[in-house]
Amino acid sequence: MTNLPLDAFTAELQRLHAEAGQVLTAVADDTALELARVTFLGAKSGRIRQVQKGLGQVAKEDKPAAGRQFNAVKTAVEELFADAQQRIDAGASPGAVEAVDVSLPGTPLRLGRVHPLTQTIRRVAAIMGYLGFEVVEGPEVEDQWHNFEALAIPAEHPARDPLDNFYISVAQAAEPLLLRSQTSTVQIRVMEQREPPLRIVSLGRVYRPDTADATHYPMFHQVEGLLIEPGTTMAHLKSVLRSFASSFLGGDVHVRFRPSFFPFTEPSVEVDMEWNGRWIEMGGAGMVDPAVLEAVGYDPDVVSGFAFGLGVERIAARRFGVADIRDFYRNDVRFLEQFSDRGQV
Ligand code: DAH
Repeated sequence: MTNLPLDAFTAELQRLHAEAGQVLTAVADDTALELARVTFLGAKSGRIRQVQKGLGQVAKEDKPAAGRQFNAVKTAVEELFADAQQRIDAGASPGAVEAVDVSLPGTPLRLGRVHPLTQTIRRVAAIMGYLGFEVVEGPEVEDQWHNFEALAIPAEHPARDPLDNFYISVAQAAEPLLLRSQTSTVQIRVMEQREPPLRIVSLGRVYRPDTADATHYPMFHQVEGLLIEPGTTMAHLKSVLRSFASSFLGGDVHVRFRPSFFPFTEPSVEVDMEWNGRWIEMGGAGMVDPAVLEAVGYDPDVVSGFAFGLGVERIAARRFGVADIRDFYRNDVRFLEQFSDRGQV
């Protein structure tokens, strides 16, 4: 019997395809999926099977074309079924992509922000930039010359104890390297390469095997400052630190020096800043020791300068009112998102 025109067969196939598409992109659970399977792919009386029967009624010369069309639609429906099954197995909602309603109000965007320690580092660098200090960087893996010897910390000094440093044994190296324990290393690296006058500041990570507690962490950050100019005095040091503190903390901040000792400065001081009626320890400072100037090839009779080293976590904790520096490293967004980075220097 050859009484089915090719056009009619093609139209029937298209209808089947469209219906299967509608049903299979909307099914939401296993029961609906099984019903759709029986309806379209059922072996005895499924829609595909029925359309296939019509193939026998198409004129002989149209059979190859009709057969190709039929196979294409059959494969397409089987694919629609497989997609629906995958979607239901994955627990997604029906027609997820097709169902996007562009007229719905949007969900709020969560804006990221700069980590409070990075904010602090950028702010310190900006303020020191206004004071004429150039930002420089140094390596975090250092040799003993730059971390100790050139800074007048000799071999027997307790600061070099293996228990207080992260030494790295390097095959065939004459001496072990270490993760730098202070950013004072950068003073040496810059002075070795340049001639005075110098005004530099270096901000970066340092490492010490300390047990983590509210004020210690095995990795933390320091700001190192160095100024080398003829006629430099402690008064210059104090006024630079005071200008810095006033800009950083806001208001008229007082700076206090307490006598101290560092091998690479003479005299040496601890620096405190008064903020909100309290004295806060910020770090160490002093006039660069003549032995350090000699170590880098400067003439201590001609050249003088000051240096200082401040703890970034410490000044960030004071400024933001954070009691435990470990909070800076926990990466808890609820904590970190409290530090707005807008309106900053
Ligand atoms: N490097 C010292 C430390 O880590 C801090 C320091 C003190 C740096 C005095 C200086 C300085 O530049 O002059 O404890």
